[in-house]
Amino acid sequence: LLPLALPFAAMLQRQRVMNRPQPQVLPAELPLGLSIAGDAVVHRHPDGRVQAWSAHCTHLGCRLDRVIDGAVVCPCHGSRFDDQGRVLNGPAARPLQALRVHAEATGGWTVHPSA
Ligand code: FES
Repeated sequence: LLPLALPFAAMLQRQRVMNRPQPQVLPAELPLGLSIAGDAVVHRHPDGRVQAWSAHCTHLGCRLDRVIDGAVVCPCHGSRFDDQGRVLNGPAARPLQALRVHAEATGGWTVHPSA
């Protein structure tokens, strides 16, 4: 059994690495409020703070691509998330995955997976 288990474990590890969210550079000119920037949902506050979450829906993983009436809306089954990544209505049951935001000296931001 061991000869089969080792390649399977290696395959799982490769898959884990490939699915790991990657750091992403955000544009320096983000609009105020909620927006989508690549694979991130971004909230830019009037005081300059920036928060970000993964743009992958916590229901079945569809990419979030629109903001309607102040909420991020999933194109697949209609889950909606507020400006803190919390579920407004399902079927998603979990909040969006928060990302760490790092301000760059050049004026932009980079977002990193939290874990
Ligand atoms: Fe987003 Fe189903 S994948 S609501």
